[in-house]
Amino acid sequence: MSQDFRQHLRQRPRRTRQSAALRGLVRETSLSPSDLIWPIFVRDGAGMEEPVTSMPGVARLSVDRAVLAARQAADLGIPAICLFPYTDPALKTEACEEAWNPDNLSNRAIRAIKQAVPDIAVMTDIALDPYNANGHDGIVRDGVIVNDETVAALVRMALAQADAGADILGPSDMMDGRIGAIRDALEAAHHHDVTIMSYSAKYASAFYGPFRDAVGASGALKGDKKTYQMDPANAEEALRMIARDLEEGADMVMVKPGMPYLDIVHRVKEAFGVPTYAYQVSGEYAMLTGAAAQGWLDHDKVMIESLMAFKRAGADGILTYFAVEAAKLLRG
Ligand code: PBG
Repeated sequence: MSQDFRQHLRQRPRRTRQSAALRGLVRETSLSPSDLIWPIFVRDGAGMEEPVTSMPGVARLSVDRAVLAARQAADLGIPAICLFPYTDPALKTEACEEAWNPDNLSNRAIRAIKQAVPDIAVMTDIALDPYNANGHDGIVRDGVIVNDETVAALVRMALAQADAGADILGPSDMMDGRIGAIRDALEAAHHHDVTIMSYSAKYASAFYGPFRDAVGASGALKGDKKTYQMDPANAEEALRMIARDLEEGADMVMVKPGMPYLDIVHRVKEAFGVPTYAYQVSGEYAMLTGAAAQGWLDHDKVMIESLMAFKRAGADGILTYFAVEAAKLLRG
């Protein structure tokens, strides 16, 4: 019986797993530095690298250091860097005016990087939280995050970033109508070639905690973001948000967080076939690096495995705090 079984076992999938060479031949997914977007935190000052406690290995960089970081990323083949400002609490107001100051930290960083490292694409964040006394992504009136007034502010913010030379605008605020409003304003201002990567399916997630520490928004935030970010229970709604943002003029779409939402990444890519990105967020990074620091996980292996999983699910690229480490490893 067992003899017969062996004779008739025509399919042995292990044949193509037996060596690195065979495994390489049948590999369905590839991961390279060109798939990565590196989010960095910028702060005031010069020569500064201030570690973010809840994100081991990540620091807030002064603009001069951010320029060096951009050079390093470009040299490693990373196509884009994404800037998040740590704003002086004294500059945070109810109306969030600092958000569209042409000389705010973020806009100064865009200019400095584009001047020194023109070959890297600079992506920005469009949302009011770094500038808001309330810590919310939108303007707050009597406890309500007001939509249309926020969109008007986001448009000003977007134009200031485009004027500073940003290549990719990243609206992460989840207000209604912001993509169309920003796109119309860009066209009217002759910024025809500025791209928009919309945070279309952005969930109200607890995985953003370390990020809010990094940008100094944790202290300011009152309440939660559930009236604008999506319910983690919803998938059909994500598809509607993607359709809407494409209709309104987004060039690329994003799903966020990443690893707990790979089903969404997959469905989005299948349904729309458009450039689709996933954000491996701060809490995911903290989980992996925290466990690795304890010796409970192999840092490099979980890093690469997690990034490969995004590609396998259908992502065209990944925003990840591991970008530089991963690119170094991938270049071997
Ligand atoms: C803010 C913004 C957040 C992130 C990117 N842009 C946090 C939030 O929505 O509260 C999260 C990124 C991360 O956790 O790594 N608009």
